[in-house]
Amino acid sequence: MIEIAFGKLSLPKDGVVALPVGEDQDLTGEAAALDASLGGALTQAMTAAEFKGKAGQSLNLYGIGPFRRVLLAGAGKPETLRQAETLGGTIAAALAKEAEAVIIAGGYTSGQVAAIALGARLRAYRFNKYRTAEKPEDKPKLKKLKLLASLPKEAESEWKTAAAVAEGVEFTRGLVTEPANVLYPAEFAERLEGLKKLGLKIEVFDRKDLEKLGFGSLLAVAQGSAREPRMAVLQWLGASGQEDGKKEGRKPKDPLVFVGKGVTFDSGGISLKPAAGMEDMKWDMAGAGTVAGLMAALAGRKARIDAVGLVGLVENMPSGSATRPGDVVKSYSGKTIEILNTDAEGRLVLADVLYYAQQRFSPKYMVDLATLTGAIIVGLGHEYAGLFSNHDELAAKLAEAGEAVGEKLWRMPLAKPGEAYDKELDSAIADVKNIGGGRAAGSVTAAQFLQRFVNGVPWAHLDIAGMAWAAKDGELTPKGATAFGVRLLDLFARGFES
Ligand code: BES
Ligand code: MN
Ligand code: ZN
Repeated sequence: MIEIAFGKLSLPKDGVVALPVGEDQDLTGEAAALDASLGGALTQAMTAAEFKGKAGQSLNLYGIGPFRRVLLAGAGKPETLRQAETLGGTIAAALAKEAEAVIIAGGYTSGQVAAIALGARLRAYRFNKYRTAEKPEDKPKLKKLKLLASLPKEAESEWKTAAAVAEGVEFTRGLVTEPANVLYPAEFAERLEGLKKLGLKIEVFDRKDLEKLGFGSLLAVAQGSAREPRMAVLQWLGASGQEDGKKEGRKPKDPLVFVGKGVTFDSGGISLKPAAGMEDMKWDMAGAGTVAGLMAALAGRKARIDAVGLVGLVENMPSGSATRPGDVVKSYSGKTIEILNTDAEGRLVLADVLYYAQQRFSPKYMVDLATLTGAIIVGLGHEYAGLFSNHDELAAKLAEAGEAVGEKLWRMPLAKPGEAYDKELDSAIADVKNIGGGRAAGSVTAAQFLQRFVNGVPWAHLDIAGMAWAAKDGELTPKGATAFGVRLLDLFARGFES
């Protein structure tokens, strides 16, 4: 994790300097002064290298003037904060092997400067816990980035908010990256307890508690595993200022409620998955990981809002005690479910947690996140998460927030009860079955199943199976766990702050 600092605009005397360059080699203020002090060497180099300052372009100059290295970073025409974040990401990636660097960020608003810092911080994330023998020359070294700005104090105060979000993202990425032998339901819940210091209220339900509540659907998934299940409830009561939230006994009022699928490993159960790629199923808890990081972000930046996060934590394993295809269980809602495929387990977990969430908290809006179906990857690839909703306004707000932070959502159809997609789930012997008739529209029938456990509250389901983990580096996400959804839902929540 890199340390971010701010300082007054001035020309550094030596070291490594990153210089954002606007479209058409546009050098402003201090950057132009720097070029002049180097006898126009920067302009000359840009022209010789046909460097135009387009977003994503970069040009390295070594041993120039008093500087060991000057990085000219294409900024394009940064109109949105997202573009400023991308610029920060580009700089962090290019300078990964430097210990520290200065970014000359003259000509940017304080919000843009903080966005550059956020982009750099997110892009520089790395999970190092299990590396013990990496060669020094292969190690990323970037520890400290100093941004020189016209209003450093203002930029720093904007950064405080952004840093809380960055910490939320990093918390999520850490959870999602952990292997399943380390991160099982009890360990996940244990790590949530660490968020209490941010002022979050945390409750953890163990197997006995869930049995008492009657979570027959979630427990059916857990019963084949040696690891016991958990459900955790995280409350942030910030709507009327944090002091009020700390008062014992205040209940969340019209909260935003977020629900996450937390399958710490999905082997498929008795409907066992093929061996190839099964290791990916350690990140089948990404929905829950995202809810956890989101709640950390909201608490960390003291959002003036009431929000509740709920995560259903289980491991899906085959064994002598595992659920069999054909078993019928009773869910917390009272509905009976015929489990025809034990690999369609995420929806079984969510059915109980969604029902509990709406019954206990009467959400203003309820949003769930889940790596729910392989079919959403077939449909949308790794560009968009699937968005399913019973409420057009909610869907529009989410899509808009996603667009702004670059975590894009594509709306998918959701039918009303009794319509064709929904009827796919009618069971011959129980109230509902956990898979549709065939492979067709697998992501839609999964969403339809969830809707059967949503009691008319405004609700959206985000199928993030294609977005939670990246095979290659992105602008703000090194390959691996992306924490897709944390920033999207943080921005969405800002729309409700008092
Ligand atoms: N966790 C998987 C979905 C998944 C697949 C996530 C690939 C990320 C990458 C989910 O539990 C699952 O197994 N879904 C089945 C549903 C089917 C049995 C109806 C699927 O998508 O094949
Ligand atoms: Mn599965
Ligand atoms: Zn799964």
